[in-house]
Amino acid sequence: MSFAVAGDKYDRFMGRYSRELAPRLIEFAGVESGMGVVDVGCGPGALTESLVKVTGAEKVAAADPSEPFVAAATERAPGADVRLAPAEELPWEDDRFDAALSQLVVNFMRDADTGVSEMRRVVRPGGTVAACTWSYGEDMEMLRSFWDSARRLDSGAPDEGSLMRYRSVEELGELWQRVGLAEVETDHLRVETSYTGFDDLWEPFTFGVGPAGAYLAKLSPEQREQLRMELFKRLGEPSGPFTLSATACAVRGSA
Ligand SMILES: C[S@@+](CC[C@H](N)C(=O)[O-])C[C@H]1O[C@@H](n2cnc3c(N)ncnc32)[C@H](O)[C@@H]1O
Repeated sequence: MSFAVAGDKYDRFMGRYSRELAPRLIEFAGVESGMGVVDVGCGPGALTESLVKVTGAEKVAAADPSEPFVAAATERAPGADVRLAPAEELPWEDDRFDAALSQLVVNFMRDADTGVSEMRRVVRPGGTVAACTWSYGEDMEMLRSFWDSARRLDSGAPDEGSLMRYRSVEELGELWQRVGLAEVETDHLRVETSYTGFDDLWEPFTFGVGPAGAYLAKLSPEQREQLRMELFKRLGEPSGPFTLSATACAVRGSA
């Protein structure tokens, strides 16, 4: 499983984007002080931690099927109700929360219809169910440049930009309507993250996190080095700090 890694490794790979994205998703979902909220597929807890700042730990719950991530999120959001569970089987009663949020998870769910239906089930009528996912297009520079580099060397590389579902606002909107959510609205959320240099970008790919890390882990040392050089060239051979941007597709609806 490509998410059975330590939370700090995830944080250097994707968590640096999650931290920036979390306040944007919270704002888009309309989460305010005093609301009870659940973070579905919380990972090591970037969104959970941001939710705690808005509404208080006793109002926040979170779930993820990865044991190391649940341990990291529990540490990061003390007092929040963090559980080991997949979206498809949320361990809370009906109508328990004012909102359910899910950041960068819907396209990893085993069964997104069931997972989002579960998010709807645990939210009270009139509450909010919201999520965001990467488009994996030009507007997610880190993953796009990785997969473009990989495909240049290996036409069979499993590019998330063509294999993933739910990577457009249209597809997310259809899913939200299919599970019976009302007043469905979509938007794009743009964030940026900084790297101290090329190694700061490359090293986290070698931690085995997510589909890109899992792909890299299967390559020989020579193939890995070729891919490293290809990515370096594609990014303009940076000799110092640089910034990459990423745009997520977001959806919200009323339970
Ligand atoms: C890209 S990470 C996003 C983590 C976190 N939400 C964030 O913003 O950093 C994808 C997460 O989905 C979780 N995941 C995978 N399958 C899942 C499922 N069926 N239900 C809920 N979460 C799942 C993984 O364990 C991982 O934590």
